[in-house]
Amino acid sequence: MAGSLPPLLLVGCGQMGGAMLAGWLADGLAPSVILDRHRDDIPAPHSVVRQASDLPDDFAPALIILATKPQKAAEILPSIAHFARHAPILSVMAGKTVGGLTAALAEAGTPGATVIRAMPNTPSAVGQGMTVCFAPPTATEADRALCTRLLSAVGDVAWVADEAQMDAVTAVSGSGPAYVFLLAELMEQAGIAQGLPADLARRIARRTVSGAGALMEQSGIDAAELRRRVTSPGGTTQQALEVLMAPQAWPATMEQAIAAATRRARELAS
Ligand SMILES: NC(=O)c1ccc[n+]([C@@H]2O[C@H](COP(=O)([O-])OP(=O)(O)OC[C@H]3O[C@@H](n4cnc5c(N)ncnc54)[C@H](OP(=O)(O)O)[C@@H]3O)[C@@H](O)[C@H]2O)c1
Repeated sequence: MAGSLPPLLLVGCGQMGGAMLAGWLADGLAPSVILDRHRDDIPAPHSVVRQASDLPDDFAPALIILATKPQKAAEILPSIAHFARHAPILSVMAGKTVGGLTAALAEAGTPGATVIRAMPNTPSAVGQGMTVCFAPPTATEADRALCTRLLSAVGDVAWVADEAQMDAVTAVSGSGPAYVFLLAELMEQAGIAQGLPADLARRIARRTVSGAGALMEQSGIDAAELRRRVTSPGGTTQQALEVLMAPQAWPATMEQAIAAATRRARELAS
């Protein structure tokens, strides 16, 4: 359905911005502008500019999405601040707080801008994303509804009332696809170590990860129950799970990994 989503200014179209854009394009997006140094494959009627000074002055986006690395925020904000006089900003940058971004926009000549934070993930590219959002009390219901509409075009959307929770969200669902891809890599390598041909090991590891995810999603059954259903007493799965679920193994490792990512999200804010 062409044009079902409103016009956007997408600032940064790399891994995450590109994943969201792919979903929006598939859903029908009103003519939008993408600011990115590298993309040259954006279909008409959308346009790409390489630098903020090339942005058309008369462009009136309904929403500005900030999807550059957090470290680039200070460089880019002054050049796009004027657009935030008329449209809310949706930042997907890990760690960057609403307060910090609002203050930076004020310093750049746009006081009182509306900034909403979101943490999406890359499965957004295939409509299977998970995005968690936080809006300050100054955001209107219409602003929140606009963000929900846009983000639900690329997957599931949840809101938190406490911005501090965004750091743990970043660690679980923002970075989370990487942990799942690592699982597929490690299963493939372990299959090869047990004598499987590399192409078969790759194929069965990938399909097992994606199939298990689809079963969990479509059945709605708890992960723990689905795990139990694969585990016959005394069988092969039980042997593997005794290794993986030993207290010092995955339970401890996953907790440490998520804690490390949460800490890093907090550091990025400072
Ligand atoms: N990757 C994920 O899975 C994920 C998940 C959730 C949230 N996020 C968040 O999404 C944001 C983007 O991450 P990413 O992995 O997508 O980064 P990325 O791949 O580096 O994409 C950012 C893009 O913006 C471009 N860019 C930066 N500054 C620019 C400027 N001044 N003018 C024109 N283009 C500019 C970059 O070009 P250059 O490389 O030349 O700078 C790059 O193409 C981060 O803040 C991250 O926290 C990412």
